[in-house]
Amino acid sequence: MAKSILKSNGYDIFIGNNVMHDLDLLLSKPEYKQARLFVLVDENTASHCLPVLSASLARAGELQVLEIESGEASKNIEVCTRLWKALGEMGADRSSLLLNLGGGVIGDLGGFVASTFKRGIPFINVPTTLLSQVDASVGGKVGIDLEHLKNEIGVFNSPRAVFIYPDFLKTLGRREMMSGFAEVVKHALIADRSYWEFVRTANIADGAVWEEIIEQSIRIKNEIVSADPFEAGGRKALNFGHTIGHAIESYFLENSSRSLLHGEAVAIGMLAEAYISFIKNKLPAGELELIRSFILERFGHMPIDPFVDHRLLELMKHDKKNVKGQLNFTLLSGIGSCEVNRTADVSLVKEALKYYREAKALC
Ligand SMILES: NC(=O)c1ccc[n+]([C@@H]2O[C@H](COP(=O)([O-])OP(=O)(O)OC[C@H]3O[C@@H](n4cnc5c(N)ncnc54)[C@H](O)[C@@H]3O)[C@@H](O)[C@H]2O)c1
Ligand SMILES: [Zn+2]
Repeated sequence: MAKSILKSNGYDIFIGNNVMHDLDLLLSKPEYKQARLFVLVDENTASHCLPVLSASLARAGELQVLEIESGEASKNIEVCTRLWKALGEMGADRSSLLLNLGGGVIGDLGGFVASTFKRGIPFINVPTTLLSQVDASVGGKVGIDLEHLKNEIGVFNSPRAVFIYPDFLKTLGRREMMSGFAEVVKHALIADRSYWEFVRTANIADGAVWEEIIEQSIRIKNEIVSADPFEAGGRKALNFGHTIGHAIESYFLENSSRSLLHGEAVAIGMLAEAYISFIKNKLPAGELELIRSFILERFGHMPIDPFVDHRLLELMKHDKKNVKGQLNFTLLSGIGSCEVNRTADVSLVKEALKYYREAKALC
């Protein structure tokens, strides 16, 4: 039996390489025994993950598969409409159950489709990317994009349970893996110095450390989210690295000759915001240096021309998390602790971008 590590907002999160057995047990419980079973996948999780799921479930023969194209471009209302129609045509009713087998796109989209079909049917998440295991698995947010506005439409609604099978990560590409790892580093920096030491020294090439990392990251995100379920304030701790990171992510989207994954942008944002934390918020110089060398070693350095600073600042000013036109930051007060709702003026943000630009040359 895998361990249920947590109750997050009333649902269990199971983790370990035995979790498929627990899922199998759950599906044979009286409340689900009669339920028609649907599974949402994309082409990658259909080939890498669905065979593992099917091999473990006594009811595999009953699974009705819904497949979408992989990628953020599928998180839209047209794909929802197709899925609502398909569910109806395949005989789904209020007691049917949707299994979301995939990364954050499948979890967000499938969760939204399930939450709205016939006023809501139950869903279970089986996240298959590191980002979705450590981040999207907690917090109860489901939704879709509205044209270029990310996560603009959605609701808070929790899955019945989450099953995390770390071995799914074996087929994930290195860039996707590092994108999720950026959120892991964030969790350590904002909340837990000893976890930071673990993450900093872990041999991430060794698959065995991932179960521990996923469990610790979920514990931290869960503590923060449980204290602030509807984003009244404390959840902003999770925004560390994201004020600058989101602007960089959007900038690269606009200039799509180069693509940047979310976590790659957040890694840049974390280093620049660590610098702001050093100037404004007591982060000791030695800790900034530790963060700098670790982030550059693990994530590399992305050249960002000075002439884009102006556009980055415009993008930051339009961020929906700002209040009264001030740029809002979560800043570290030391490794393992942070303060929310800190502000920084434009000149300091420019200085932080310059610090990032020159960080590679520092020793
Ligand atoms: N709800 C939340 O709290 C929350 C939190 C963080 C992110 N998100 C959302 O999650 C999305 C990003 O998630 P993501 O990075 O998981 O993206 P994703 O779902 O697009 O997955 C990334 C890629 O990996 C592939 N893939 C998935 N599992 C695989 C596996 N085991 N082996 C090989 N390939 C695999 C997918 O097909 C896709 O091509 C964004 O839309 C973001 O808004 C939501
Ligand atoms: Zn993020």
